Amino acid sequence: MRPFDEKRVLVGVSGGIAAYKTAELVRRILQAGSEVQVILTSSGARFVGPTTFEGLTGRPVHQSLWDGALQHIELGRWADAIVVAPATANIIAKLAGGIADDLLTTTLLAAPRRALLAPAMNTRMFEHPATQRNLETLQEYGHELVGPAFGGLAEGEEGWGRMVEPDVILAYIGRQLEGESRWRGMRVVVTSGPTWEPVDSVRFIGNRSSGRMGHAVAAAAWRRGADVVLITGPSHVPAPPEIADVRSVETAEEMGVALGEALADASAVFMAAAVADFRPSVTEEGKIRRSSGLASIAVEPCPDLLAAARTRAPEGCVMVAFAVELGEGGVDSARGKLEAKGADLIVLNDPSEPGAGFEVETNRVTIIDASGAAETLPQMLKTEVADEILDRAERLLPGE
Ligand code: CTP
Repeated sequence: MRPFDEKRVLVGVSGGIAAYKTAELVRRILQAGSEVQVILTSSGARFVGPTTFEGLTGRPVHQSLWDGALQHIELGRWADAIVVAPATANIIAKLAGGIADDLLTTTLLAAPRRALLAPAMNTRMFEHPATQRNLETLQEYGHELVGPAFGGLAEGEEGWGRMVEPDVILAYIGRQLEGESRWRGMRVVVTSGPTWEPVDSVRFIGNRSSGRMGHAVAAAAWRRGADVVLITGPSHVPAPPEIADVRSVETAEEMGVALGEALADASAVFMAAAVADFRPSVTEEGKIRRSSGLASIAVEPCPDLLAAARTRAPEGCVMVAFAVELGEGGVDSARGKLEAKGADLIVLNDPSEPGAGFEVETNRVTIIDASGAAETLPQMLKTEVADEILDRAERLLPGE
């Protein structure tokens, strides 16, 4: 899986209770396609034994500075990314002070690249000015921090100091492995999921969009370094946890307002949401009773968000539309939509085909550009489709 394929990730584990989550992190990195080697500190080994990591990676776990004279140099050189999870207050202080008294700290100091650190400690240790200053120093040195999060800590306390979850750390490693990208620092807006148009206080008109495709585009753009705003309708698929700016909306109207606010400095907009085309003309207060004898619901068109966004987006902003078409004639119909809405690309899929559509992890899409040229991609994971879409949108960014 991009960008983990054939990459090498060095994981340092220091002594915190969150070390048990690092086993899951290691498993996820391996699943994503990278090789993993683990350096376990002596305190780390008190929380999770080397056998666990050895079993996961199929490699011996590095624990001692004295197992090889050049190990601390070789491990750093070997790695495409280095992550320390959990990073205790002690490791953070040592690294900030340039102390190298065990294999992990020595490797970190000797490594040609900076590390990703996932701090985990008691709130007071985290908030202590010494730790805060050390963390600032580490960032000045080019290390990247992920977390800590707020939440339950050891001994029943609550506060800042929890290690972030493995999927967030995984996303950050992915962003480091991605390397240089034209998307870095660019504002990218993604709409995702369905919209719900209320009939009364308990019912709505909606659709079967899961939000998976839009969420995948948002995650891929974030991984390439973009500053992502994800505007999502109600979806049971959680938004990618690494995206800080998630704006949850319910109706097409609300999605339009959120889009208008986010558009100002957008370099690209991906309209993956399945916006409802129609909404009830009137929303009844309370619940419409069966005994009311209601026979039909009057509807009116929802605003066309993409067409409105085109007129309000900054010049040069790349607009990517999505189209759901069932059966024959989909490509022609999608071409018509691309032109009518002034999009730069349109991504077409037919949910009636196997391996495509709303509830599944895969998709089969045809991407059509403004010249009308259509390219049909083989069935692949929605996460992979997202990268294909971004590759094509990237070529349309100004300056290419
Ligand atoms: N779209 C939108 N606002 C709407 C409806 C659709 O912005 N009210 C956007 C979708 O996010 C998508 C694109 O327009 O990117 C095409 O959506 P689709 O539903 O396939 O097209 P429609 O214009 O609704 O046409 P039709 O219902 O006739 O297929």
